[in-house]
Amino acid sequence: MDEGNARSRLLVEPEPVAETALEIDLELEDDLSQTEPEVEPQVGAVGRSTFYATTPIFYVNAAPHMGHAYTTILVDVVTRFHRLKGDDTFFLTGTDEHGENIQKAAEAHAKSPQAYADDVSGQFRSTWDRLGIRYDDFIRTTEERHQKVVREVLQRVYDSGDIVYGEYAGLYCVKCERYYTEKELVDGKCPQHEIVPEYRTEANYFFRMEKYRTWLRDLLHEQPELIRPERYRNEVLAMLREPIGDLSISRPRERVPWGIPLPWDEEHVTYVWFDALINYYSALVDRGSVERYWPHVEHFIAKDILKPHGLFWPIMLKAANIPVYQHLNVHGYWLYDERKMSKSLGNVVRPLDLMKKYGNDAFRYFLVRDMSYGLDANFNEPAIAERINADLANDLGNLLNRTLGMLGRYRDGVVPAAVDMEPADLELRQAFTDLPARFTQLFDELHFDRALESVMEAVRRANKYITDTKPWELAKDEASAARLDTVLNTLLEALRCASIMLDPVIPGKAHELRKQLGIRNAPFELANAGQWGLIPPGTKTVPGDPLFPRIDLEALEREIAEPAPDPATELLADSEPELAAELEHKAEITINDFGRLELRVVTVTSAEQHPNADKLLVLTVQLGPESRTVVSGIKAHYQPDDLVGKRLVLVTNLQPVKLRGVESQGMILAAEDDDGQLSLVTLDRDMVDGSEVR
Ligand code: MSP
Repeated sequence: MDEGNARSRLLVEPEPVAETALEIDLELEDDLSQTEPEVEPQVGAVGRSTFYATTPIFYVNAAPHMGHAYTTILVDVVTRFHRLKGDDTFFLTGTDEHGENIQKAAEAHAKSPQAYADDVSGQFRSTWDRLGIRYDDFIRTTEERHQKVVREVLQRVYDSGDIVYGEYAGLYCVKCERYYTEKELVDGKCPQHEIVPEYRTEANYFFRMEKYRTWLRDLLHEQPELIRPERYRNEVLAMLREPIGDLSISRPRERVPWGIPLPWDEEHVTYVWFDALINYYSALVDRGSVERYWPHVEHFIAKDILKPHGLFWPIMLKAANIPVYQHLNVHGYWLYDERKMSKSLGNVVRPLDLMKKYGNDAFRYFLVRDMSYGLDANFNEPAIAERINADLANDLGNLLNRTLGMLGRYRDGVVPAAVDMEPADLELRQAFTDLPARFTQLFDELHFDRALESVMEAVRRANKYITDTKPWELAKDEASAARLDTVLNTLLEALRCASIMLDPVIPGKAHELRKQLGIRNAPFELANAGQWGLIPPGTKTVPGDPLFPRIDLEALEREIAEPAPDPATELLADSEPELAAELEHKAEITINDFGRLELRVVTVTSAEQHPNADKLLVLTVQLGPESRTVVSGIKAHYQPDDLVGKRLVLVTNLQPVKLRGVESQGMILAAEDDDGQLSLVTLDRDMVDGSEVR
């Protein structure tokens, strides 16, 4: 394996999230720019370790909801934290696209499974992009790079004699796509989906899992942290106390054609879980990064999929002679108003609505702060608003406003040097410089909520320090000038340290905070959060808008009490197309106004990646005798090769504009839904290039 090569491929800049040329995305610019700091954490050379984190790959039979967003945001936060430490990180997410469920969902939408999977997978990807998630790879189980590895692993396990052919009869939940034992059922129903399983008999291939039962039990005793928190390790140990049986890992192709055929028997396709779990490994194989990242893999999942990850997966890895993961990190469920929230129960909250309503960083902060990892957490909008008001507006936002306000009044906004530090100053300094070690420990132990609380506790101490040192009184007496300098300097340093530690959770606002401190371009890493005196005296601060405006709780309560559907909490039918409650229309125009627009049919003759912007494509389009260059923000939705030859509609009389150094001579038309999914406007019959659209 060429690790050097793999490295250079992997170290391509992570995709920025703020740039886009399509007007339709402009409304989001504010939100997304919050998550796009211009300065990256510095990479510290000393003690650099490696961190590879995964989310589950999500089923494509429903649009992304808040539960999916939680795991993905959390992995984004944890990966950003490791980047801040200077670690070599890799973050994988993706979609799970095979199996009976997807096949049925596609049928219900009168689409081919592939077209259907393309659609919904695109929704996941664009949702993560709009939430500023910095994944390094997005894997789809229908991609050849994945299927190839699945076939290789299957063949390896088959050759070793651990896969055998046989008959099976049992109770099968079609939603979970797995058999249940009588004991596992609750009132005769699947505990996840609350439906009665079907009795099925099938001739299938079986993976000899039972053979590895004692091996796994011993492993969980040797490595008690392998599955954490402990309650989930105990659950798996309880499963291992009784025979676990063998796992049916194929389905007759005749009945379920939508899957990966077994390499030695094409009449059977691979069971969806056997296929899906391998994604964590296949994504690395394709990039030549197995040696670099696999030994460090950390899976993050919710408790719903503990069994496949805690039981099937380690045994599959063992049978395939691949080292087992470092940790399986299992979290609880988000409940909505104390009720289980899941796509199959239909009470789904859309993450983009919450992000739009509360701001991306505040939404992330709430999710990380209000779930104690491993336990269920309850969610409702007043809870989000209260958390934002208490921690972000009152504690953090206020500290910044008060500090910069006083600095403006007493020192013209210029950072003074600290002179002699007194016990109160030293105490506050200590509270902050001790934090990175504590913060790191809490993060490593999955206590993300407590890690944030430890920073907020220090922030509250800084607010109290203002009350205790009374800078407004020091300002009245010229003899206290040096003392005032020290107090102001101490507060500014405290804010700088807080901004670094909070960076993984509120990257946009933490950047904004440093910008207001006048150090927007200063490099930073976690180690800097434990050092004092890094803001050069003489730095000019740049006060701006409050970081987190207070939310009017009463107005929110009124809004919630009103019967009109609230877009953030509207209940969605499972995978049904969403209908907006009401469309917002623009002001009326006359036919003459419309006539001022020139729209023409064009054919795309080439499509390439923009040289300076990861999210943009540069298209060359032909309209009759003319050809034009168009820069378009559709990269997340279309592969360049798929665009060549497409007939589209171009606004031809739009003033040219330079986008990241390339002139765009017009704009192609596309539709966008509420989830940010794009669809290009095309024609339903052949037309000559240059034909006018009116
Ligand atoms: N496709 C499988 C996973 C295969 S991984 C090799 C699957 N997909 S899923 O779309 O159902 O996603 C399940 C995951 O979504 C959970 O494990 C969790 O990460 C997230 N969540 C779904 N609902 C959730 C809540 N209500 N609360 C918290 N997380 C939730 O299972």
